[in-house]
Amino acid sequence: MQTLRVGILGFGTVGRGVARMLRDQADILQQRAGVALQLTAIATRTPGRDRGIPLDGVTLTDDAARVTAGDDVDVVCELIGGLDPAESLVRDALGNGKHVVTANKALIAERGNGLIELAAANNCELLFEASTAGAIPIIKALRESLAGNRINRIQGILNGTCNYILTEMREKGLPYEQVLAEAQRLGYAEADPTFDVGGFDAAHKLTILAAIGFGIPLSYDKIQVEGIAEISDVDIAWATEMGYRIKLLGIANRVDGEVELRVQPTLVAANSMLGAVEGVFNAVRVEGDFSGPTLYYGRGAGEEPTASAVVADLVDIARNIKSGGAAGRTPLLGAPLADLSAPV
Ligand code: HSE
Repeated sequence: MQTLRVGILGFGTVGRGVARMLRDQADILQQRAGVALQLTAIATRTPGRDRGIPLDGVTLTDDAARVTAGDDVDVVCELIGGLDPAESLVRDALGNGKHVVTANKALIAERGNGLIELAAANNCELLFEASTAGAIPIIKALRESLAGNRINRIQGILNGTCNYILTEMREKGLPYEQVLAEAQRLGYAEADPTFDVGGFDAAHKLTILAAIGFGIPLSYDKIQVEGIAEISDVDIAWATEMGYRIKLLGIANRVDGEVELRVQPTLVAANSMLGAVEGVFNAVRVEGDFSGPTLYYGRGAGEEPTASAVVADLVDIARNIKSGGAAGRTPLLGAPLADLSAPV
């Protein structure tokens, strides 16, 4: 294989970032992957719209099947978001023998168990580094760097929009609605920002981290979720005066042989590492039994940080194919999948 041919589903903020990165970083990518990464096709509802980037030689279409079944596509990047039609398109792609890279946390958290089985059955890869914490390589860290550890705890600031809102309210005294509108303008917030402020986006990401870290099934429906919509400027001022920050944390704890999963606003000491994480940044703290605590920090949302993680998965797939590695590495969750209620 001399070229890994990439098709994209969805040409919004992240799709544009991936297209830009594949073009702007072509030399670096070829050097690192050992093959060229070539964007061949993009499916979007608005193929005629000018995105301000050259797309010579790339087929633009409103027909998703042109990508999921395209003869010139080896890997499909699903960058539509949401559950439907994303799930059926990913199923089509895997059924056609295409590898899939997705940034879609809702899809993996809520439908991922079935998709992972389908990918394995088709000897395809299904990778989703970009689904969780943007540019931070947290899935690779849990899957690879900490592979020898029993993970005891994961704590994360996993939603950039909420962290941005809480930071701006505290630092500038701005009202909640105004900061949320700015997060939407900057492209951080979800299409429906209830997913951000209600804690559901963080819960999707925690689901994924807990599954990989603890070797349990994706268990979104087992998470207790509370968002930040009820946090007032008085709460923030009080916390600040007492030497704390309010952070929306995703928390996965090993307790009495089981895994407890929560998303909730939490008082964190202002001078702690998590307390110092401000703005759209994310951070994840992982405790392994041999590694001890480790901390991962970076941009959790936005065009370029998310594209960085998508493209890293493309390089991973290219390297794996080139080295003749076994396909279907996706069952990252341990096999057979354990029941959450069972001792881990
Ligand atoms: N809305 C998400 C956030 C985008 O603010 O973190 C990245 O998943």
